[in-house]
Amino acid sequence: MNDGNDIPVIGGKSFTAVAINCAAKAGEWIKTKLGNHTSLSIKHSAQDLVTEVDKGAETMIRNLVGTHFPHHSFLGEEGVEPGPEASTKALQSVQDAEYLWIVDPVDGTTNFVHGFPYFSVSIALAYRGEVIVGVVYDPMRDELFVAEKGKGAYVRGRRMAVSGETTLRESLLATGFPADPHYAQPLNMKQLQAIAPQVRNIRSAGSAALHMAYVASGRLSGFWEIGLNSWDLAAGALLVKESGGTVTDVQGNDYHLGVRHVVASNGRMHDEFVTALQRAEAGN
Ligand code: IPD
Ligand code: CA
Ligand code: CA
Repeated sequence: MNDGNDIPVIGGKSFTAVAINCAAKAGEWIKTKLGNHTSLSIKHSAQDLVTEVDKGAETMIRNLVGTHFPHHSFLGEEGVEPGPEASTKALQSVQDAEYLWIVDPVDGTTNFVHGFPYFSVSIALAYRGEVIVGVVYDPMRDELFVAEKGKGAYVRGRRMAVSGETTLRESLLATGFPADPHYAQPLNMKQLQAIAPQVRNIRSAGSAALHMAYVASGRLSGFWEIGLNSWDLAAGALLVKESGGTVTDVQGNDYHLGVRHVVASNGRMHDEFVTALQRAEAGN
């Protein structure tokens, strides 16, 4: 059995090489489409957008993965009906697959639509439910974040390491503003209000996958967001873990593919971070 530590090579291409190739190709194409998209639709809510570029990039990645690994399973955001229930169901239907590619072709579609240069391609490969390869690519900065389970994580060829802050007070955090106005957004806002006075500052740049990559590279001390999907988090979670950080849900349970309410950090102030979020949720 392959436990994921020994990443196999099939047809001369390793899983990681294919993930990098897909992210780079899709990212370059997405960049050429910045300011040029022709269709804009609304998905689950007025804040949940999709363009032909999201769909085109996912098709490109799906086809490339399928060429190398035709028997692998594939879960891409644009192949799933919008909304949290459909996302959970879609994951449940494939999460026991031997090999599962989990793809967000454009993480940060709102930014892409507005020309705000912060979005990414997120590609993960899970082996029997555990992420073994994670790649997040920022085409605007040409930054490729890559992790292999048990082998560390790299950006621009340099090994990444999480930051050194040991308390919330000295931490720079990031969060997102979820599209779901009924549950995720109000809870995230409540947590934001409670946690802001306890930290150095908070950023919200609009790509969960890139925020996770920034935690991995030590540019952020931590990140949390309510109501994310497997494709937002799978690659970033491996980046953070392989850089020495910690990824859990808001209860402090270890990350797995089904986690939607995520807390990622340098690990050094993780317990304090989780406790502060829980207190905020409980309203004390
Ligand atoms: C969104 C981004 C954003 C986060 C939202 C996600 P999308 O993904 O990651 O930062 O706040 O919750 O849905 O829709 O651009 O792929
Ligand atoms: Ca996303
Ligand atoms: Ca997306």
